[in-house]
Amino acid sequence: METVSLHETLPLFSRMVYGMWRLNDDSDTSDAHIIAKVEACLEQGITTMDHADLYGDYECEALYGRAMKSRPDLLEATQNVTKCGIKLISDKYPDRRVKHYDTSAAHIQYSAEQSLKKLGLDVIDLMLIHRPDPFMDPAEAGRALDDLVDSGKVRAVGVSNFKPWDWDLLQAHMHHPLVTNQIEINPMDTSCFRNGDIALTQKLGLKPMAWSPLAGGAVFGDTAQAQSIRKVMDPIAQEAGVGLDAVVVAWLMAHPAGILPVMGTNNLERIATLSDAFKVEIDRQTWFEIYEAAVGQEVP
Ligand SMILES: NC(=O)c1ccc[n+]([C@@H]2O[C@H](COP(=O)([O-])OP(=O)(O)OC[C@H]3O[C@@H](n4cnc5c(N)ncnc54)[C@H](OP(=O)(O)O)[C@@H]3O)[C@@H](O)[C@H]2O)c1
Repeated sequence: METVSLHETLPLFSRMVYGMWRLNDDSDTSDAHIIAKVEACLEQGITTMDHADLYGDYECEALYGRAMKSRPDLLEATQNVTKCGIKLISDKYPDRRVKHYDTSAAHIQYSAEQSLKKLGLDVIDLMLIHRPDPFMDPAEAGRALDDLVDSGKVRAVGVSNFKPWDWDLLQAHMHHPLVTNQIEINPMDTSCFRNGDIALTQKLGLKPMAWSPLAGGAVFGDTAQAQSIRKVMDPIAQEAGVGLDAVVVAWLMAHPAGILPVMGTNNLERIATLSDAFKVEIDRQTWFEIYEAAVGQEVP
């Protein structure tokens, strides 16, 4: 698997990343099964793991950390990304009346400490602000992120779902660079190619991470858009001898922005073929054939 550098202070990340959002949805959340999934990722060359404080109603980080306790070698072999800033309504936090965002220094600091503890890490490789916060004090949030890096709790920081103006506002108040924006990119949501999100990362020479690269499974669904996408992609998959998921991911990775897809399958057999995406060649015209099917019309 290709490895990529997001920033000089970070270890190399694998080009494909494995996401833990659905860890707690799996019918099997035993340590043995979590270990088997991480091992299957490593066999594919996927060494970078994507977490967030709130996944699985705040339980996924602890599930992963619990499983890794018996396999420190696996934890050592991975790079771990996590996120903070969303406060869900949850039995675990009875004082919350409304779902909201919190980018206060106290919450960013608290979240990093919690994630370190739950994941069983000495240092978080990359910490992201999960969503742009309409109540953000950029000077306070920026200072808190800088402090995390300066204190050695995290190696680098970034954001998720930020628009270019959100990025500029936060970055203007920081001395450490934001190193990535994790955004939704898949054939069913191609808006990032037109709304400035990808343009910003390309302008800055940064690599974006793509969440829900298979549209959370919707590319396999019955909508007209999914069917139209599959009509173009199925023959490509057949010719390459791979599954549809591999073609979708190859299409994302073919883009010059250097997108890192964050894969979410809980299925061990599917994990075992994730690197098939590297078997698929997507040239410019093939990219546009898929883009046209995704958008529903030819480019103007
Ligand atoms: N930053 C953010 O705001 C944000 C938001 C959402 C997600 N994320 C990150 O992105 C990661 C990936 O998101 P995601 O799970 O939505 O990614 P995804 O890979 O687009 O979707 C995974 C879903 O697709 C299904 N699927 C995969 N292959 C399939 C196949 N061949 N046939 C039918 N269904 C298939 C999976 O089911 P099986 O498990 O049965 O295979 C799973 O339910 C998350 O874990 C998280 O780390 C970040």
